[in-house]
Amino acid sequence: MENLIIKKTTMPKERPREIKSFGTIFTDHILVMDYTKNNGWDNMRIEPYGSIALDPSACALHYGQGVFEGLKAYKTKNGDIQLFRPLDNFLRLNRSCAKVCIPQLDANMLLDGLEQLVKLEKDWIPEEEGTSLYIRPYIIATEAFLGVRPAVEYKLLIILSPVGAYYPEGLKPVKILVEENYVRAVRGGLGEAKTMANYAASLLAAEEAKKKGFSQVLWLDGVERKYVEEVGTMNIFFKINGKVSTPALNGSILQGITRDSVIQVLQKWEIPVEERKITIDEIVAASKNGTLEEIFGTGTAAVISPVGKMAYGNELLSIEDYDDESLSIKLYNFLTGIQYGTVQDDFNWIKRI
Ligand code: COI
Repeated sequence: MENLIIKKTTMPKERPREIKSFGTIFTDHILVMDYTKNNGWDNMRIEPYGSIALDPSACALHYGQGVFEGLKAYKTKNGDIQLFRPLDNFLRLNRSCAKVCIPQLDANMLLDGLEQLVKLEKDWIPEEEGTSLYIRPYIIATEAFLGVRPAVEYKLLIILSPVGAYYPEGLKPVKILVEENYVRAVRGGLGEAKTMANYAASLLAAEEAKKKGFSQVLWLDGVERKYVEEVGTMNIFFKINGKVSTPALNGSILQGITRDSVIQVLQKWEIPVEERKITIDEIVAASKNGTLEEIFGTGTAAVISPVGKMAYGNELLSIEDYDDESLSIKLYNFLTGIQYGTVQDDFNWIKRI
């Protein structure tokens, strides 16, 4: 992109020697873009990281009109920088925007801008195993107005954060509680989009689950509370009797890019995989009759996360014997291999920059 203005920081931060957490450290620069009624999306620029001025009446602060994305940049052993399916994230950003009446963006132009930002911050991409540069694009309604209608002014920002594993457990199996009281989304609502509101709606249940010793909750459908939907920050897969199933996209489940990648990899490996309605009772029954082999979550932040324990009412399902032969670990190794450039990318998912 020719006319991207880059204003460099005069006070670069000290880069951490080790990355142990998720989302606590931020790089020196951000990408910013504005939307106004007259000019549309305009004025893409790179600026030093810092506070942003926001009118106290900005719509996003009152009615939550905002969306976000999450993707990662990886450094290969040769020092190349790789993005994983970045255009898919920007296309999903547009789908999320549509759900909350935010004007559409030019996904290719955003990708060009992101590439310049990541190039500028390339020394922030951590190199230790399991680390990467998490990329968080987001949009907020900035118009100062208290009526309830779509805003006519917005700001898009992209911030970057060197990260390690999302869960403190790393690749160790996580404990999940099946949520029976609260619901996250219903069909026809915002559940399939990455709107900020979805994540606000998930907090109370997650906090209560944490107090009981669980990492996350598994959401059931919002109407019958019978069908499995997704985990707080991941889509969910079950391996039962050699066959892999994941809940079909029904409007209230996030259209995960890692979810889609896993389905494509399994198809390539000729492992039976299906997207369908899955009842929680079926999972409990499979656990009882010994056919439940694996449960794992998928997500950009979480990558592939094996589930070791799942509690549902009085039932406690336990799968402890994950090892290198487990499908979830093989998938983790394969996908991260593509992302870090040690496995050939036959899917054309990598964008090298
Ligand atoms: C991601 O996986 O990128 C997500 O958006 C999860 C995030 C809420 C931590």
